[in-house]
Amino acid sequence: MGKQEYIGSYIEHFDEALGGGIPSGHIVLIYGAAGTMKSTFCFNVLYNEVLQGKKGVYVSIEQSSLSLLKQMVKMGYDISKVNIEVLNEANDVIRGLSRLKDDEPRKLTIVDFGTIRKQLQPKGQKQKFGFSGDMVESILSMIQTLKRKNLCDIVVLDSLTAVYSLTELKEPRSEIFYLFEFLRDLGLTSFVISEESEENTRYSRFGIESYLVDGILHIMLTDRNRKVTREIQIRKMRATDCNNDVFTLEWDARTKKFKALYGGKNPLV
Ligand SMILES: Nc1ncnc2c1ncn2[C@@H]1O[C@H](COP(=O)(O)OP(=O)(O)O)[C@@H](O)[C@H]1O
Ligand SMILES: [Mg+2]
Repeated sequence: MGKQEYIGSYIEHFDEALGGGIPSGHIVLIYGAAGTMKSTFCFNVLYNEVLQGKKGVYVSIEQSSLSLLKQMVKMGYDISKVNIEVLNEANDVIRGLSRLKDDEPRKLTIVDFGTIRKQLQPKGQKQKFGFSGDMVESILSMIQTLKRKNLCDIVVLDSLTAVYSLTELKEPRSEIFYLFEFLRDLGLTSFVISEESEENTRYSRFGIESYLVDGILHIMLTDRNRKVTREIQIRKMRATDCNNDVFTLEWDARTKKFKALYGGKNPLV
């Protein structure tokens, strides 16, 4: 076996806690409530890995690419340093992304599936373009094509919760298994976002996702004396000797970097 490659977390001090980083090829669940910066965390990893020579794909199902990019520009990312390609046309899905060049450097592709979805399924009318298979199939086929064109090493799926809204799972256990195996077989490192809510207080909706993924990062919003802080914890990371302590997760607006602080200790208040 070759030397284990790692994907960075791009959170200061957190790769040590991860035992080196996120092992390449892992499927990692990013679990947290709205506003915990799950999307930002994933974009941060993609952006920085793309600068290091990897190809990144961000699949956004509910947030438009415009809203996502606005947020990232507001955070201070210089998006002119990477080649951003937005896929928001149903025609892109149907024609198999033939207009994309293969193997472009510093490529960060955003699949705006919210916009594509509206074109695929106009009101009251199903499958206008005669696209066979369901919405999830078209997302997977785009990922597969991007991989074939050497435009995808790391994929972010934002979110699994939204995937569940696209399709009625008849046999969740085998369908979710298929979804994860599909990503694994392509050899991708995958970040799968899962929304924490009143109804979904476990790491997963069907109770099996957490067994099927290789890693789970939980991001929390915590109230302490009326101050709200973000916290991050590695709940699971296969093949690493990781530290399961809770860390304070801070965004440093000056350096434009995430920091993990006070692991296992009470933060100073
Ligand atoms: N400098 C900043 N600029 C913009 N938003 C910020 C900044 N720092 C923290 N945030 C917060 O980030 C949150 C949005 O992050 P996002 O990654 O979209 O969260 P999630 O995907 O978990 O819902 C907002 O609640 C916003 O207040
Ligand atoms: Mg989000």
